[in-house]
Amino acid sequence: MKILITGGAGFIGSNLAKKLIARGDQVVIIDNFNDYYNPKLKEDRIKIYLKGCQFKLYRGDIRDIKLLDKNLPYDIINIGGDKEEKLTRFIEVVEQNLGKKAKKKLMPIQQGDVPSTVADIRKLRKLGWKPTTRIEKGIKNFMNWYREYYNEMKQSS
Ligand SMILES: NC(=O)c1ccc[n+]([C@@H]2O[C@H](COP(=O)([O-])OP(=O)(O)OC[C@H]3O[C@@H](n4cnc5c(N)ncnc54)[C@H](O)[C@@H]3O)[C@@H](O)[C@H]2O)c1
Repeated sequence: MKILITGGAGFIGSNLAKKLIARGDQVVIIDNFNDYYNPKLKEDRIKIYLKGCQFKLYRGDIRDIKLLDKNLPYDIINIGGDKEEKLTRFIEVVEQNLGKKAKKKLMPIQQGDVPSTVADIRKLRKLGWKPTTRIEKGIKNFMNWYREYYNEMKQSS
């Protein structure tokens, strides 16, 4: 299958790309490598994490219709968990993994915040996929990776 992944240099997109390529799908990635967080991490995902994988990369904005049209036809599939998690539970798990308590300053809802959000994964479920990673395991894995990655970066700079 030919699959277009938007944000393919991101955390979810790059992991998805790796799995699909291993499964034999033809993958096209579009990413604008924005600086919402360190773009070097996105470059490393392409260069190091996806090393040896066959895929086509377009550096650009998904709002650029001409760029998308090059890759039509496409379908949009939302990937994520479909169960709400409380932000307080998320912080608790981070605290447990760090072995220290966060200094919390509770504020009213901020501009751009949403009261609740979940991924609509009905299409994915039809394709036979369902989320299986619990937040406790996901955060633990993420924090292990984060420490390793930034320690390696510090050592190599
Ligand atoms: N990480 C999670 O646990 C999680 C859970 C549920 C939902 N989500 C959602 O999944 C999506 C991806 O999450 P992530 O953690 O991989 O984030 P991420 O920031 O690591 O990845 C997003 C990628 O999209 C790219 N991007 C952003 N705007 C773009 C644009 N206009 N054109 C092209 N590329 C663009 C960014 O450069 C980045 O590489 C987000 O919408 C997020 O809200 C994430």
